[in-house]
Amino acid sequence: MKSSRIPGFYNMSVEQRRDLLKKAIDFSSEELDDLYINEPLSIDTADKMIENVIGTFQLPLGLGLNFLINGKEYVIPMAIEEASVVASASHIAKIVRSAGGFQTEATERVMIGQIQVVGCPDFQLAKQALLNEKESLINAANAAYPSIVNRGGGAEDLEVRILNEESDSKYGQMLVLHIYVDTRDAMGANIINTMVESIAPVVEEITEGKVYLRILSNYADKCLARARCVIPPEMLITGDYSGEEVRDGVIHAYEFAASDPYRAVTHNKGIMNGIDPVVIATGNDWRAVEAGAHAYASRHGSYGSMTTWSKDENENLVGEIELPMSLGTVGGATRVHPLAGLSLSIMNIESAKELAQVIVAVGLAQNLGALKALATDGIQKGHMALHSRSVAIAAGASGEMIDIIAEKLIEQKQIRVGKAKELVEQYKK
Ligand code: MEV
Repeated sequence: MKSSRIPGFYNMSVEQRRDLLKKAIDFSSEELDDLYINEPLSIDTADKMIENVIGTFQLPLGLGLNFLINGKEYVIPMAIEEASVVASASHIAKIVRSAGGFQTEATERVMIGQIQVVGCPDFQLAKQALLNEKESLINAANAAYPSIVNRGGGAEDLEVRILNEESDSKYGQMLVLHIYVDTRDAMGANIINTMVESIAPVVEEITEGKVYLRILSNYADKCLARARCVIPPEMLITGDYSGEEVRDGVIHAYEFAASDPYRAVTHNKGIMNGIDPVVIATGNDWRAVEAGAHAYASRHGSYGSMTTWSKDENENLVGEIELPMSLGTVGGATRVHPLAGLSLSIMNIESAKELAQVIVAVGLAQNLGALKALATDGIQKGHMALHSRSVAIAAGASGEMIDIIAEKLIEQKQIRVGKAKELVEQYKK
């Protein structure tokens, strides 16, 4: 996509939007078919994905526009049922692009596997014995999944922790081995689970204990993505609110979330409004991303904001986000669900690292969209405006008629299809 700015996209029909996408992106005809047919996920494929299948469940798929991230244009597919989310992300992305776009970065994609050992005769000795065998354990883990090593990744380190050492602990003492694995472009659950299951018998031998759990940790704090934006106040002017008022309102809103879990949960839900739709549209495991993100928001001891908002020395608003992003561009549903592959093509994503950065940028945009609305007119005004537009379209309005009918519905405080149909008839006369 040459540019992610597509003026008037929201006023187009679905067919017009699809045609535009077809022209803008070099799709194979197969990929296009996936977009055009009514059942993008066939019942046969669905039946192979999970058990007891009786059908498929669909969500609207919209495009987040205007994203400029590290100088690259991104049109971002978002699968979500909630109105206003795609519009709000696109609105903020338009402001941020005028300010130079989002800057993002990511750590290496190191995921964690855990092995739980109980009943060691001496936990300190068991820990030391495991550390002495570090290299052979790492080699054994890699031998269990050689293809990830061939792709340039694999197990690279391990750590051992002893839990509940205190004599008054209410839980039993246990040893936990962490194996750190570079999973490259895969989310890594299969890679890691295979590795930990395969080395568990050796771990039992070395520790003289009994292994119970062998599983990936979704607290992926060695697989982080970060995004940042800097916005001059004049770009934040909203209705009668000055840019400085909006900026300060956003900072106060952040400070509220940072100091109160009741607010932080809602604040972070707004961030996940942006993150989950892209995670879903790319066929990734959104429960894993959700769990990791909320745990990371508690890393300082109490649950807080996933973003920070502040003012720099030039009075600009500065937003930052850092989150674990356990997701992939290969493996799992990313290549099984046809729309997931299509979503990656629309974004022109080359790696899981890149996808993670795009997703946190959308989360940051979504958060600013919510805070900017909350700190000014409130969110209902925007919701009602959007809702009235869809009611007008459902009643048969098209082109310039949509906004005229939508405004009348709001003025008359009757946002109903029946009323909209009456207005459409009057307009046509
Ligand atoms: C609604 O889905 C999300 C918001 O509640 C987020 C927030 O309060 O920051 C608007």
